Amino acid sequence: MGRKAKIIIRNLTKAFYKKQGSVTALDDINLTIDDGEFVCIVGPSGCGKSTLLRILAGLENPSIGEFTIATDGEDRPLQSMVFQERGVIPWLTVEKNVEFGLKMRHLPKELIKERTAYYLKKTGLEKFSSLYPKELSGGMKQRVSIARAFANDPEILLMDEPFAALDEQNKFILQEELLSIWSETGKTILFITHSIDEALLLSDRILLMSSQPGRIIREIIVDMPRPRKIEDIRENPVMAGQFVEIWKHLQEEVQQSRREDG
Ligand SMILES: Nc1ncnc2c1ncn2[C@@H]1O[C@H](COP(=O)(O)OP(=O)(O)OP(=O)(O)O)[C@@H](O)[C@H]1O
Ligand SMILES: [Mg+2]
Repeated sequence: MGRKAKIIIRNLTKAFYKKQGSVTALDDINLTIDDGEFVCIVGPSGCGKSTLLRILAGLENPSIGEFTIATDGEDRPLQSMVFQERGVIPWLTVEKNVEFGLKMRHLPKELIKERTAYYLKKTGLEKFSSLYPKELSGGMKQRVSIARAFANDPEILLMDEPFAALDEQNKFILQEELLSIWSETGKTILFITHSIDEALLLSDRILLMSSQPGRIIREIIVDMPRPRKIEDIRENPVMAGQFVEIWKHLQEEVQQSRREDG
């Protein structure tokens, strides 16, 4: 049963020009992501993961190549992005943060209220809706970013290490919440992480990138039933094998980039 392609990236290359010369951050990326698919990108630091997301978010232009995000003709934003931090507007309350994108689009008041309330509830923020970001913990701030991104009802979600700064317990709770919203909404998610556990817990498919210039050099299909538990990653032989495969890949890439630097 083939699914529709949601994101198609063709021959995408990105170079940055600096005084010392140019840096090829991304080299000939070709990628198709299906509608509703949850894809994680894993790769060594500096390999161009954030650059790829920023291009898909329209914040940078590709040097060569192109991408398309399929739309279904409804009036919704192409993408919402969730960052590791900086995701909330400090002078707005939790509730105002979540409804911000909807207000900007001048949607009907009733719809804004309903959708904001729904995502505040889904992310466990109901009780905190009138607080300001400075009154929130790191985990709560990330919940606000996630609630806002989903409330916008975008075609795709782009997430750049959204849980990297959280402790393991909080991270797990937010991962569960994210998966629950994902399965309810059927959104397409492209998610960057440094954590192999996180990639195995969340993904339908994991893309491994090389060190600079960033290329996609391997993909791993995580064909495991959901919901998955952290224990599965250790105890299920297939998942444990995938963990080791990704671990070795990262080690090789980091060592190679060290050799090139030295
Ligand atoms: N605006 C920019 N101007 C110049 N160079 C840039 C710019 N943005 C990124 N780069 C360079 O492109 C390369 C890729 O950076 P990027 O931030 O995409 O890496 P990353 O894979 O997200 O790394 P990390 O895992 O550390 O977040 C790096 O060498 C970086 O210095
Ligand atoms: Mg990055």
